[in-house]
Amino acid sequence: MPEAKTSAFRVQQTRGLRGTLTMPGDKSIAHRAAMLAPFGQGSSQIRNWLPAGDTEATLAAMQAMGAQVERHDARSLSIHGAPLQAPQQPLNLKNAGTGIRLLAGLLAGQPFASTLDGSAQLRRRPMRRITEPLRRMGARIDAQQGRCPLHIQPAALQGIDYAMPIASGQVKSALLLAGLFAESPTTVSQPGPARDHSERMLRAQGAAIHISENGKRITIEPGASLQPLDISIPGDLSSAAFPLVAALLTPESALTLRGVNLNPTRSGLLDVLAQMGADIDIQAQAEQAGEPVGDITLRSSQLRGCEVGGDTVVRMIDEFPVLMVAATQAIGTTTVRDAHELRVKETDRIAVMASELRKLGAAVEEREDGFRVTGPQRLRGAVVHGHDDHRIAMSLTVAGLIAQGETVVQDAACAGDSYPGFAQALIRCGAELSIEPPQ
Ligand code: S3P
Repeated sequence: MPEAKTSAFRVQQTRGLRGTLTMPGDKSIAHRAAMLAPFGQGSSQIRNWLPAGDTEATLAAMQAMGAQVERHDARSLSIHGAPLQAPQQPLNLKNAGTGIRLLAGLLAGQPFASTLDGSAQLRRRPMRRITEPLRRMGARIDAQQGRCPLHIQPAALQGIDYAMPIASGQVKSALLLAGLFAESPTTVSQPGPARDHSERMLRAQGAAIHISENGKRITIEPGASLQPLDISIPGDLSSAAFPLVAALLTPESALTLRGVNLNPTRSGLLDVLAQMGADIDIQAQAEQAGEPVGDITLRSSQLRGCEVGGDTVVRMIDEFPVLMVAATQAIGTTTVRDAHELRVKETDRIAVMASELRKLGAAVEEREDGFRVTGPQRLRGAVVHGHDDHRIAMSLTVAGLIAQGETVVQDAACAGDSYPGFAQALIRCGAELSIEPPQ
């Protein structure tokens, strides 16, 4: 479970991150499994479940609608298929953007009313991107000036043909999930390669889903009866990104990350780091839960600056905070473009990372749709803040491992929203890091 929100990480400059880490389950896939398993005709078995803040919030929301969840241990559970029922109270998705947006799609066509809400942070995030196309399908969904809480009334949905203005896995998935319960087929076209975990899982469950040859148009037909899931969730590359970059940037490091999801719609960071000259070795590719999985071995590397834009941005959208840290250590200039979406994540990740890294002495040029960093730069330890954004807190922890002296990452417990045990994992590999208990 996530630690209390007040705890801090105290980080010292570190050399020699070594050993092997097995990655916790992929957050995107865990959300989808929790939402889709209750619709399976029978019992779903889910191994390597991710017991993180975001995914536990989604699971609790499903349980509040009558989903029958049997926990075997923290990381393995059974979910028994049964029709959902009206929740008695608003569903609290906490900080989970994926949780609330996908659930809005799933619930829009259910025969009961529901309210979806979350933390102050989630209440600041844009919801029009899903409410607008869902309303076009006939959904009765009210928002508060485009923000949650979302109030959903039962409605008969019609399929639509929708061209997403941005390549978003969340928008695409919300519409496909709504499409499962519509009266006619729904097609979503995407301008870039948004993550395709929903398509893979729905197909494995026997849903009638068709993907055009160029991968840009996805159609779902309603009415198929869904099979239960029997999966072991692959490790999350977005969580692996933190120890991965830490091992590249700290001297004398050699680290292996086991069981990592290598889905090409997610693996942009690996391509960019390879282009930057990182010593990355990818081994033992296999399929797990319909996703490609492998082990990644990293060795300390001198990186070079590079340019990132276009489709690659979509394939690594959650990895830019830690890429910004890597860019401070690369020789030459790293330029990121086409990444406006970073401004509407848990925080404005361009502005927040730039201002927190400046506290460590870094020079970062912010751009409307990205950033420019010229390195290598010397970082000095300081007190920095996680802003209740897990990927900010973990990126700053990685920065602390390479900064001279001591870095204190305040509000670090939010790391548990996606990577429970993050700090402990780094400590096991030799990071000079201690966890401050809540005050
Ligand atoms: C996610 C999609 C991405 C990503 C988020 C998880 C998903 O968001 O940033 O962390 O599970 O579909 P967008 O779809 O808004 O780009």
